[in-house]
Amino acid sequence: MKVARVHPANHPLTGSVLCARDKSLSHRAAILAALAQGTTKVSGFSFCEDCLSTLSCLRQFGVRIETYPDVGKVVVESGGWKELTEPEDVLYAGNSGTTARLLCGVASWIEGLTIITGDASLRRRPMRRVIEPLSLTGIQIGGRDNDRFLPVFIRGKYPLAPFEYHLPVASAQVKSALLLAALGANAPSCVREPFASRDHTENMLSYLGIRLEREPGRIVIHPFAKPLKAKDFSLPGDISSAAFLAAAALMVPDSRIYIQDVGLNPTRSGFLECVSRMGGQIKIHNLREEFGERRGDLEVAFSSLHGISIGKEIIPSLIDEVPILSVLATQAQGVTSISGAEELRVKECDRLRAIYLGLKTLGAKVEERNDGLVIEGPVKLRGGRVESFGDHRIAMSFAVAGLIAREAVEIVDVDCVKISYPEFFDHLQLLGCKRTEFYESEEEGEKNCL
Ligand code: S3P
Repeated sequence: MKVARVHPANHPLTGSVLCARDKSLSHRAAILAALAQGTTKVSGFSFCEDCLSTLSCLRQFGVRIETYPDVGKVVVESGGWKELTEPEDVLYAGNSGTTARLLCGVASWIEGLTIITGDASLRRRPMRRVIEPLSLTGIQIGGRDNDRFLPVFIRGKYPLAPFEYHLPVASAQVKSALLLAALGANAPSCVREPFASRDHTENMLSYLGIRLEREPGRIVIHPFAKPLKAKDFSLPGDISSAAFLAAAALMVPDSRIYIQDVGLNPTRSGFLECVSRMGGQIKIHNLREEFGERRGDLEVAFSSLHGISIGKEIIPSLIDEVPILSVLATQAQGVTSISGAEELRVKECDRLRAIYLGLKTLGAKVEERNDGLVIEGPVKLRGGRVESFGDHRIAMSFAVAGLIAREAVEIVDVDCVKISYPEFFDHLQLLGCKRTEFYESEEEGEKNCL
């Protein structure tokens, strides 16, 4: 088990990095390229472990994919959606909820049997939320333990019955699974959501020529009318990865860094809004747009922060940034309360519990609620040993905490950063944080924080 020992930063973070490419967009670019006829070049593809899981599953549907990790490029060659074939073996989604759920949608209209499974963490995550609505299309679909978990089987057919579904929780993974399934229906379908979750799937489908009628909280999607023509994608950086570097610069005195080419889709940028409400200085330069997705460069400077309240409506737009926002809150003057965030309990680990346990170990004033956290700052964190619970965003959050603690912070099972951001420690080093050591430990990391 790899452990990272992160020492407090002894000088400001400075310089500029090209942020890790966007994981959510990379999954979708690969999946949509597989549905399109011809060759798609995806530049700025994220070679994190989750996206590699998507590529390997797509290959099992008969799609040809060449990868060029050194230049961040993937070339997908497909005969189009009609040519996708029943996989010969079980699909393995690894740690990736996006892979498992979105591919349930695709498999719905591929004739034959698809079985999807994943690693121990993914096999504990809820799947009924996709199984139930997908069964409205008339297919046979089910999962382990009374449809709760992976493995999931799908007996796909074409065409599907159109459907109307109101998502009980805002989840872009579930919404995207349904939109992808709806492509194989014989009439338009309608999907509603309680709060706006990330809309990458909608933007990319529109770019490829799929007809969508969009209004707040409601999408009507038309099925494939003719073969989809392949179109290239150039993907921006991942704001969910940039958030860790930004948080480090906001907290380490006198820092000023530049993070280039970050995706700034409004349904993803709740982190920036909250940081700005906390008094953090983040400037956006070079704002531009491609295939309906905003992107720009971030300039982030050390700031004195104050507590804020973060409520239900904004949670979907910062769902993956709650762990690092919680670390920021320990350095903000006053109380930060996070509510309506119960979805964090069903991520790669129970993130509310994991943040609570880690912050407590480091001496923060933190209270755990059913649907969130209450954190009072500022507190000078002490050093200590914390568990990542195999969750990449927990590991990176506590690595950033180590930069501002009194003594070193050790993060147990730190290899999981590869799930979303393999270059994380290299980027920290590039910005001047050179005092992290790694060592192998005999001990098993905790896998479950329940
Ligand atoms: C994702 C959606 C979010 C997010 C996950 C990636 C996506 O999950 O937490 O890391 O790419 O659609 P939910 O939509 O299920 O909340």
